[in-house]
Amino acid sequence: MYAQNTRNEMSTLDANKPELMRSRESFNGVADLYDRYRRGYPTDVLDAIGKMADIGLGSRILEIGPGTGQLTRPLLERGASVMAVELGQDLAAIARRNLGHFVRFEMAVLPFEDWPLPNRPFDTVISGTAFHWIDSQIRASKSARTLRPGGMLVAIYPHQVLGDDGGFFIDSQRAYLKWGLSTDSKWRPPSEHELSAVYQDIDQCPDFASVKRHRIRKTRRFSMDEYIGLLRTDSLILTLSEPYREGLLNDMRRCIDSYYAGTVSRTFVYEIVAATKKPSL
Ligand SMILES: C[S@@+](CC[C@H](N)C(=O)[O-])C[C@H]1O[C@@H](n2cnc3c(N)ncnc32)[C@H](O)[C@@H]1O
Repeated sequence: MYAQNTRNEMSTLDANKPELMRSRESFNGVADLYDRYRRGYPTDVLDAIGKMADIGLGSRILEIGPGTGQLTRPLLERGASVMAVELGQDLAAIARRNLGHFVRFEMAVLPFEDWPLPNRPFDTVISGTAFHWIDSQIRASKSARTLRPGGMLVAIYPHQVLGDDGGFFIDSQRAYLKWGLSTDSKWRPPSEHELSAVYQDIDQCPDFASVKRHRIRKTRRFSMDEYIGLLRTDSLILTLSEPYREGLLNDMRRCIDSYYAGTVSRTFVYEIVAATKKPSL
């Protein structure tokens, strides 16, 4: 069991490897729910990525950890071709079902760490809410090796932050304490200025010439069913045994229904990290 003070996937990382491996495989066990409840990215975020990495017709993209295609679809719709490397077989099967009609879509099902380097380099390597699940010792350098000189690595991470939720995250903390997912009764999401930069290993990687970061704040509203469905795909909640998980979700349902008129709003800061490979490599 985690002794969590936050509800952020990043907090489970680099803890120890077996935990990381189990958690990163957890999404595949709920592949159908993942497809149904994990929304894609807001248009502003997609537009910013497209602009930063110059993505459009003819771009050759490698995507790491596509899930069921939340980021893949808009990339394909913008005219790019996408080679996706996905760990989970069931997630990959749904991605193929969702995206198989795009002739510019291909997928390999294996960990990115084991994926053989391609003969022809890519313009862009991209990873949405997945880069932190890749071995931090190799993820930046291996991404660089798959890129053409001047190509770009783009990693996106949605931070959950303090927003205008009317106190929901303070109230719902009781359920996290009760069911053993938190030890901190005073936990609250961080505010935007308290966030630290993600994926700092990219800045340390000598293969990249420059690293830019861009943040976009968005509040998204969920019905109770959407929110409970989303929690069923949360890697932290998936660490609970079934009775504990159902207990927590029942308490959350009661809280949303009794005090929040059946809806929850959640504020995210999407951090986009964009690193340009050195031209001479
Ligand atoms: C939180 S999900 C993000 C999915 C999707 N990109 C999105 O934005 O919703 C993380 C994804 O990374 C995949 N993943 C985790 N570790 C991986 C690895 N080592 N190689 C490839 N994919 C991996 C998981 O199976 C899952 O599909």
